[in-house]
Amino acid sequence: MSKPEPKREVIVVPDKRALAEAAAQRLITRIAANPQRPTVCLTGGSTPQQLYELLSTSPWREKIPWARVHWFMTDDRYVSQDDPLSNIGMARKAFLDACASAENVHAIPANRATPDEAAELYEQELRTFHPLPPDEGFPLFDLVLMGVGPDGHTASLFPGTSALTEPDKWVVGVAQANVAPFVPRVSLTLPCLTSTREMLFLVSGRDKKDIVARVLAGDNLPAARAQSAHGETVWLIDEAAAPNGGQHANAR
Ligand code: 6PG
Repeated sequence: MSKPEPKREVIVVPDKRALAEAAAQRLITRIAANPQRPTVCLTGGSTPQQLYELLSTSPWREKIPWARVHWFMTDDRYVSQDDPLSNIGMARKAFLDACASAENVHAIPANRATPDEAAELYEQELRTFHPLPPDEGFPLFDLVLMGVGPDGHTASLFPGTSALTEPDKWVVGVAQANVAPFVPRVSLTLPCLTSTREMLFLVSGRDKKDIVARVLAGDNLPAARAQSAHGETVWLIDEAAAPNGGQHANAR
């Protein structure tokens, strides 16, 4: 059987600054489209930091209805929030603590006995927030931000692991990471992450060129499997990371 055509839009921008601005614009558009309780799932790693910092500054900050927007995490490292490795810690410092309503920040509780226990609790939190299973209700998220690692992982879903093919659970503990930092992780699964109106990958830098080329060529990598089940999947890439100097721009 032939593979279904990936519905993926690729947008190439000149540099990291343009990447952050284009992502901020998309985030604001998605939030504006939901007049009730917009939900955004934030990713970790270093690439989104500039976007997060931008959101706390004018004119972006004034465009976000902070009291209504809920912020979740795609994954986190199993460390305390004040550890420099913490994804939520980075997002808090960059913008959440200064701008978001504290009760709207849904951190993965990385302070439980085990990553599995943290995963169960976070799944309960998501299911309480959104009681209908993703397939039966509207999508869980308006926007899910994603990154890609050198091995093709996304969130903390690494190639060849059971977390990647988890069919039922929304959140799993990941005992071992494939790449640095080698700390256990907690990650949303594909059934949960793909339940979004838009999945937006942020990719920057020359060291991502090869992995981007593999994803766009159709390799069966975690980041290639992650596609919105309800709407758009967009890869926002800077020129340094773009294969063929950006020839894929806007290709589907
Ligand atoms: C994490 C992630 C991970 C990340 C990619 C890209 O906790 O590490 O959420 O999936 O998004 O590894 O990371 P960079 O932006 O640092 O390249």
